[in-house]
Amino acid sequence: MKLLFVKTILTRFPNEAAEVIRNGGIVAFPTETVYGLGANIFDEKAIASIFEAKRRPADNPLIAHIADLGQIGLIATEITESGEKFIENFFPGPLTIVLPKAETVPLIATAGLDTIGIRMPRFKIARAFLAACKTPVVAPSANLSGRPSPTTWESVFEDLDGRIDCILQAEATEIGLESTVVDCTADVPLVLRSGSISVERLRDVVAATAIYETVETEIPRSPGLRHRHYSPRAEVIIVNKTADLNYESGAAYVGMERPTAKFDHELICHSAEIYAHSIFEFFRECDRLGIKTIYCGYVPERGIGIALMDRIRRAAAN
Ligand code: TXA
Ligand code: MG
Repeated sequence: MKLLFVKTILTRFPNEAAEVIRNGGIVAFPTETVYGLGANIFDEKAIASIFEAKRRPADNPLIAHIADLGQIGLIATEITESGEKFIENFFPGPLTIVLPKAETVPLIATAGLDTIGIRMPRFKIARAFLAACKTPVVAPSANLSGRPSPTTWESVFEDLDGRIDCILQAEATEIGLESTVVDCTADVPLVLRSGSISVERLRDVVAATAIYETVETEIPRSPGLRHRHYSPRAEVIIVNKTADLNYESGAAYVGMERPTAKFDHELICHSAEIYAHSIFEFFRECDRLGIKTIYCGYVPERGIGIALMDRIRRAAAN
């Protein structure tokens, strides 16, 4: 593979970052979930450089980010009934809806699929940036493929400095886990990836909403879910009872319960929301400290606990 090296511009001005997009560059930008790595949705060359910079497998589709509802008509052929209801209730916010893709959107953006994931972030700086881009922006999370998604600009820098054109710097993201992805192309909406908008909340709006469960032999509907994900270099182990834990050199603990044993690095979270907000950055800190094993306390699987345990299980499975 060609060795990439570009000078990565750091800026706090959405307009400056948007100009890089308009000139065919790729830009990392903050949203309320995690930082994304964006390109103009109609610029195949820029999109190809996203896959290259992240070392992302070509079969993993990107989410289109929009500044206003009017942009949906540029990238989707139809807003289905369930799509319409989710838009009314959850846009702008941490929800991605999958709709039939317009012909004009290049296939490289959707990894060959005839559908497109669409999301309108609510983070103020993301909205200013997207509005100034004057085009929908496709963006995966702004990490090297397989690494935990970045929730701070410093973590984007750690993975992608010299590989992307620009980073739009802002504070840490608010939620810390990626958006909920729901396929709205069929009669029954299907949750493909859990996130901070829980299935319970989606069902309040469309009662029939189902959760997509991958059967072992089947190709997942959300292609990204079959790839290695969210992994720190350390081994991740899920613990049900902190009382069972003993001190171990080079080990770390994160969870809601305080363990009796002391760890080299610890984070006690007072709510599942704080746990979700902190988990990816905690994984990265552990790597920076050379931690070998990370013990993660189990949280009950309701509300954001579902998405949090999903991410921790994927990290533990690697
Ligand atoms: O919160 C988020 O969603 C962040 C921010 C930057 O918006 N983005 C993000 O993108 O997490 P990424 O590429 O890391 O994850 C996108 C997920 C993948 O699992 C992908 O397979 C799925 O969404 N996806 C995207 N387009 C799809 C489509 N047309 N059909 C099914 N799944 C799709
Ligand atoms: Mg990702």
